This record gives sequence, structure tokens and C-alpha cells, in this order.
Amino acid sequence: MKHTRVKDLLNSNNTLHEVNAKGWVRTFRNNQFIALNDGSTINNIQCVVDFENTAEETLKRITTGAAISVTGNLVESKGAGQKYEIQVKKLEILGDSDAEKFPMQPKKHSLEFLRENAHLRVRTNAFGAIMRIRSVLSFAVHSYFQQKGFVYVNTPIITGADAEGAGEMFQITSLPLNNLPKNEEGNIDYKKDFFGKHTNLTVSGQLEGETFAMALGQIYTFGPTFRAENSNTSRHLAEFWMIEPEVAFNNLDDNMDLAEDFIQYVIKFAMDKCGDDLKFLEGRLLDEEKSKPQAERSEMALLEKLNFVLENNFKRVSYTEAIDILRDCTPNKKKKFQYIINEWGADLQSEHERYLVEKHFKCPVILFDYPANIKAFYMRLNEDGKTVRAMDILFPGIGEIVGGSQREERFDVLVEKMKALGIDEEELWWYLDTRRFGSAVHSGFGLGFERLVLFVTGMSNIRDVIPFPRTPQNADF
Ligand code: 4AD
Ligand code: MG
Repeated sequence: MKHTRVKDLLNSNNTLHEVNAKGWVRTFRNNQFIALNDGSTINNIQCVVDFENTAEETLKRITTGAAISVTGNLVESKGAGQKYEIQVKKLEILGDSDAEKFPMQPKKHSLEFLRENAHLRVRTNAFGAIMRIRSVLSFAVHSYFQQKGFVYVNTPIITGADAEGAGEMFQITSLPLNNLPKNEEGNIDYKKDFFGKHTNLTVSGQLEGETFAMALGQIYTFGPTFRAENSNTSRHLAEFWMIEPEVAFNNLDDNMDLAEDFIQYVIKFAMDKCGDDLKFLEGRLLDEEKSKPQAERSEMALLEKLNFVLENNFKRVSYTEAIDILRDCTPNKKKKFQYIINEWGADLQSEHERYLVEKHFKCPVILFDYPANIKAFYMRLNEDGKTVRAMDILFPGIGEIVGGSQREERFDVLVEKMKALGIDEEELWWYLDTRRFGSAVHSGFGLGFERLVLFVTGMSNIRDVIPFPRTPQNADF
């Protein structure tokens, strides 16, 4: 008999004769009530066992974590809390789960413990909800861009380029590390390597994406990116997913409009599709915050916060204005910041970004026109000769969620910049071709997918919104 998903059973319009459900036991109480979950929804279906007519042996095997199959009628539930339940006629144990050993006991576990058991944590309510929301958000990304006629591009994962020029790359090689071939100068001879050159895992698909935008007009990428930055924070992963749209003929203002519209769309999409999961996570967050001092608690509950982002325009502020605000703010004057802001040109740390968003503006902020020397080589130089057409979007509780810019479309200016930064023109000959042949104004941005999931789920550590996180000293599973 084909089984019916728990979600469909719970959403049924009427009682049903003879249904079959399969899933994993969450709890079994009074030798009678099974809470069964199959991952289709956060809600369990109650299965009522006729314990007097069920073998003692079988009852003993209905333990937390066991996979079972139940067949019976879907009837109106007498108990509170659910509309329907299954009156079990036939119960089959598909896979036992030793109650003593199964790590996901029906009690509260710490997030650290759950990370160590990332292969099983998805069987908990919170992680089931997070991963369903993540899936819906990634569908929303495609839905948004496809509906607008963007072309989805798969940029290479292995590349010779350092798109961000930050040198934070994982090298790729098939050379024997204990016996590296050397050239005449005594350096490693990458000509003997698999690709005949030095390669690494991509830090961004932007440069390749730009070449496609200069042919297809509007494109987006959505794929894994890798950064070997030794940042052991709750916002950084060594392997994360990035969405990078790139649009020909868009200037920075168009780019900001696109980013804002896109973010609001995907959040709304998740709110429409994931009501139960978000409600659960809102409760979880309230619970978690009870243990925090008042000052550290969020001012808004999760759904209120998401609605706030949908209903309010992001505040657009120039870097120069932001520096003025930061220089004069109380935490700066009282030396409460770890990095004190003294002058124009300072790079902003996440403490500064979060001050602007959470304390000063109290809404998402788009900072633009940053000093050229703290941003990547490909950003368009402004007429003032010292700032570039960059934008970062800052979110409450997250800090930077988007980084983007209008690109330097002028061949000479770009080459000049690359020379000054020691970026190899020969390695990027193909990138420079976009400026040689039919160059035009164009812009794009990168959204860190996990930072978006972090915001939507109200979680506080990025390791908890990706199935199997990769961070310094950790690549388990
Ligand atoms: O600001 P970033 O480095 O910009 C780029 O890579 C550009 N090429 C994007 C573009 O213009 N097409 O990274 C973009 C976003 C950040 O705003 C952040 O959300 C996320 O990627 N990000 C990370 N997320 C998780 N872990 C990390 N280590 C991240 N580094 C960046
Ligand atoms: Mg950035």
C-alpha cells in the first residue's frame, strides 16, 4: 500500500478509511500514543495503538528514532492539539532505534551537541524547519530571476582567477605533495600539474558572470563558493552558497533597486510557504532569548522582523555619511568599539555595521560609495578619484548580507587599477576582453545564501543553517 505523507493526512478535509503512513517515532507515551514525523511538515501525526491487542515485543520496539509503518483509519482526534489521528490497525517496525544509544532524545539539546551530530540533527523540529525553509528559499531565488527573464549560469568551481583579489583561496592540485616537481628557478612547476597551471576553488563567479551578462543581458549564478579566510565567527563559512546576479546597462542605483526587490521577494515567498516552520522558529527564538539580558534581546519577534523588512525601504547612506555618524556615536566616543573610527578611509567592522543598522537607523541599510582602497579592483571609480561605486547591504543581527558594485567598464582605468594592485593582466586576459569589445555600464551583487537563511530563520550561528558546515578545523561528514 502506498503511504500518504503526514502533511497531506493532517491537511485532509475529511476522515479517511485505511491510510498508511511511514516515518520516524518522535515519542511514544502511555504505551498508546505515537508522535510520528516524516519530514513533510513540522507537525507530527498522532497514531493511537491498541496496546491490548499488540504484542508486548512490538510495543517495546516503538522507540524514539525508530522507522515504522502504520496502517489504519484517519479519524477525528478526541485529544486536544490535533484535528486528526490514525487509529492503528497494523503496525510494522521498519528499522529499530536503540533507545539507550539514539543521540536525538526527546529533550532539549545544545546547538553545539547538535552540530557534532549534524547527520542526525535534521531529525529535530528546529533543523527540519530550517532545512525546509532553506529549500524553499533556494526555489524562491530561481523563481524571482526566472520570472524576470534572467539566465541561470553555472560558473566554474575550479578556476585560475582570484576574483576578489584577497588571496583567500583553497589550492587545487594533483601534484604529489611530498615530491613536488620544481622548475629551473626552483619554484613549483605547475606546468606539470593537472591543468598545467596554478588553480584554486572559486571565491566568486562574478568575473565569469560578467562575460555572460555582456552577451545575455541579465544573468545570475547560484552555486558554492570557497574562502580560506581564517575567520572563526558565527557569520563565516569556508564553503558557502552565493547568488550573483549581473546586469548589463544597470548603474549602481538600478543595482540597489534590484537587490532590495529581490530580497523582499524571497522573504515574502518563504513567509507564504513556510508558515508552520516560521511559527515554530519564532517560538524557539523567544525561548532562547529568555535566558539573555534584556538589552541583548531582539526588539521584534521573528515574523514581525520579517514583515518589517517587507514593509520598509532600505535606508541608502553613503560611506562618508556613515563615517560621520560612527565617529560621533557614543560607543565610539566611549571607546566601546574594538576598532575605534578616527578618520575617513577606515574599513568598517561588523560592530560598526551592526551599530548603524540596529541602533542608529533601526532598519536595513545600503551603504554605498566606499573608499577605493578598501574594495575590490573591479569596482567603478567615481569622479572624485577616491571612492568607488560599491554597495553593501547591512541587515539587523547579520551585518553584511550583500556586497556589490557598478563595474569599472573603462578599459584603461581598469588596467591601471590592476597594475597598481599587482593583479596579473595575463591571467585575466579574457575578463579584459569584455572591456575591449563592446564594453558598457553594468552592475551586480553577491548575496550570501546562508546569511539570508540565518536572517529568515532567526538562528544566530551560520553553522546551523547549512546541512554540513565547513569551518576552520572542521570538515566532518
Ligand atoms: O562581499 P563579497 O566578498 O563579494 C563578492 O564576492 C562579489 N564578487 C559579489 C558580486 O559583486 N558579484 O561576498 C558577497 C556576499 C557577502 O555579502 C556575504 O553575504 C557572503 O557573500 N559571504 C560569506 N558568507 C558566508 N561565509 C563567508 N566566509 C562569506 N564571505 C562572503
Ligand atoms: Mg563584501
